[in-house]
Amino acid sequence: MSRRGEAEPSRATGGHPASSERGAGRSAEVTHNGGEAGHGHPHGRRGPQVQRFGHGSRVPGWDEAADLSKDPAVVPDPATTPVPAQLRAEIEAHMAKYPDTRSASIPALAAAQRHHGWCSPEAIEQAACVMRLTPGYLISVASFYDMLETHPVGRHNVYVCTNISCSLCGADELLAALSEEIGDDSETFNLRAFECLGACDIAPMASVDGVYIGPVALDEVPKLVEQVRSGLPPLPNKQLSSRKSTDPNAHVTSSEGGHS
Ligand code: FES
Repeated sequence: MSRRGEAEPSRATGGHPASSERGAGRSAEVTHNGGEAGHGHPHGRRGPQVQRFGHGSRVPGWDEAADLSKDPAVVPDPATTPVPAQLRAEIEAHMAKYPDTRSASIPALAAAQRHHGWCSPEAIEQAACVMRLTPGYLISVASFYDMLETHPVGRHNVYVCTNISCSLCGADELLAALSEEIGDDSETFNLRAFECLGACDIAPMASVDGVYIGPVALDEVPKLVEQVRSGLPPLPNKQLSSRKSTDPNAHVTSSEGGHS
C-alpha cells in the first residue's frame, strides 16, 4: 500500500489537453536546461504526459483539514455501535497477531472497506469500536494511505501504473484510453494512475481488482472494460499469474505452502 497522493484521471485532468500541455512544457524545459534532447522518443513523438498538479508535482498536496469546530469523537460505545459479526471477527483476528493491537489498523480498515465499499464514517466507527480506538485515530491512518478510500468509489479498482517503465511503454496512452472507454461510469470503475506496481516486466500494466495484467495493448481496452463490467476475468491471457516461471511453486498460494 502506498501513501496517498497519485494524480488521478477522475480527480485531475487525466491525459486531457491541459495536463498534456503542462507535461510537454516540463519536457521542453528539461531539453532546454539539461541537454536531454537525445533521450526523447526516437521518432520525436510525444504522447500524452503524466498529469501534474498546479505546482508541477504528481502529488496533489495535503489532504482535507480536520473540522476543528466539531467536538473530538470518543471511542465508540459497543452498546450503541452495531458491528457485523463477520467484520468484527476479521478485525479481531488481525488484532490477535500483534502485541500492540493498533498495529492492526491498516488490515482492519481494509476489512471495513471491503465490507462497506469504502472507509465510510460508519465503517470507521465500527472498526474503531472493535479496536477500542477513537475514529480520529483510524481516520488519520485511512487518509494517509491511498488504497484506503475516504470517499465513495466505483466497485472495481483499475489501477494503471504510470511509473517509469510503464510510462516509457505507453502507460499514459493506456490510462487515457481507459478513461475514455469508461466515460463517466464512476459507479462501476475506480480508475486511477498508480506509481510502480512492481510488475515492470509486463509494462504497460494495470491491476484490476488486484489481478495484474500486461502488457495491455490499446486495442484491448474495449474488451477489458467490457470484461470488468460483465464480471469476467480481465484479459486472461495477459494475467501475470499465467506466465511461466522457473519456480514450480510460483503460482501456489501461501495457504498451500508456496508463494502467493
Ligand atoms: S513501472 Fe509499472 S510496474 Fe513498475
